[in-house]
Amino acid sequence: MNLPKLSIAPMIDYTGRPFRAFMRQLTRHTLFYTEMISAYAVLFGDRDKHLRFEEWTHPIALQLGGDDPEELARAASIAMAYGYDEVNLNCGCPSERVQSGHFGAALMANPERVRDCIQALSEATDRPVTVKHRIGIAPHDSYDDLLRFVLKVAEAPCQRFIIHARSAVLQNLNPKQNRQTPLRRELVFQLKREHPELTIELNGNISTLDEASEILKQADGAMIGRAAFQNAYLFAEADQKIFGDPSPIKTRAEAVNVYLPFVEEELRSGASITFLLKPLHSLCNGLTYAKQWRMRVSTAKTLGDIEDAVRFLNSKAQETPEGCAVQTSGSGSDAEKVEVQG
Ligand SMILES: Cc1cc2nc3c(=O)[nH]c(=O)nc-3n(C[C@H](O)[C@H](O)[C@H](O)COP(=O)(O)O)c2cc1C
Repeated sequence: MNLPKLSIAPMIDYTGRPFRAFMRQLTRHTLFYTEMISAYAVLFGDRDKHLRFEEWTHPIALQLGGDDPEELARAASIAMAYGYDEVNLNCGCPSERVQSGHFGAALMANPERVRDCIQALSEATDRPVTVKHRIGIAPHDSYDDLLRFVLKVAEAPCQRFIIHARSAVLQNLNPKQNRQTPLRRELVFQLKREHPELTIELNGNISTLDEASEILKQADGAMIGRAAFQNAYLFAEADQKIFGDPSPIKTRAEAVNVYLPFVEEELRSGASITFLLKPLHSLCNGLTYAKQWRMRVSTAKTLGDIEDAVRFLNSKAQETPEGCAVQTSGSGSDAEKVEVQG
């Protein structure tokens, strides 16, 4: 796999199979992350449910949560047989539930342990092993703290450091509040400048592709989180703008149309239509008919209802040419209500 210049962040309750299947209709090259899956769930849970994915949705990175090198390695050997392109260790999640398992951001307090986890993961797979983490855990969140963590982990074959450019506050702040602590991108750029030998990717509040392009001048990769579900169509231009692929950009209606066979198949195997259509909610955000669209997809009961919704899209697109990458402040959806995340 080439270095993924642009990726969509792991997001629990969002970046499951339907989301990835739909987003893949908009962008061929962007790397997608799974939701975080704990090593324990891989070892003792319903593996197929957690791990299977559609061949045509590559490239996909699996994010694992855990703090035990041996357990992570066993989970990775099982999981990587499903064909993931990368395995990533979560060292950024501040939720209490994750802390009680001693993983996520809490792991940053123990860089030696993270190094050992990365070492064990690299021995369990021939795919790249990466880590996603914060600047530090407040109050240990200076540039020197970040550097110490990264250099220690780099003693293992860690192929990429994906840094959510904020510190984690482990007491008294929930995950949502932990995404509102000050953004400190400068520290990530400094790390890349001073250690060009490391592959460094930046995450945190990137909401347009132009912003991602700017970040790519100072870092090796840009990871987008919430903007991907607040404004899915942002990614329609990603192949052209970020990866230099001149393939034509799909219209919204085209993207939904090519997603429908997946929906049909999943409905046949008993999946809920609400779950399958969730990735479509933000498709028209920023356009005058965004609310009408959202209403149609959130009340759709059958495949026929979605086909009607596509006809609606086509008729609207004829009235007003579609715009790409409309900047929105979010759909006002349930974007922020999940409490277990990074
Ligand atoms: C709903 C939600 C779920 C998340 N779940 C995860 C997760 O499973 N693993 C992880 O490392 N980070 C998780 N995060 C954090 C994101 O990956 C990302 O680091 C964070 O949202 C900052 O990026 P953004 O400002 O572009 O959204 C989650 C964030 C949100 C909003």
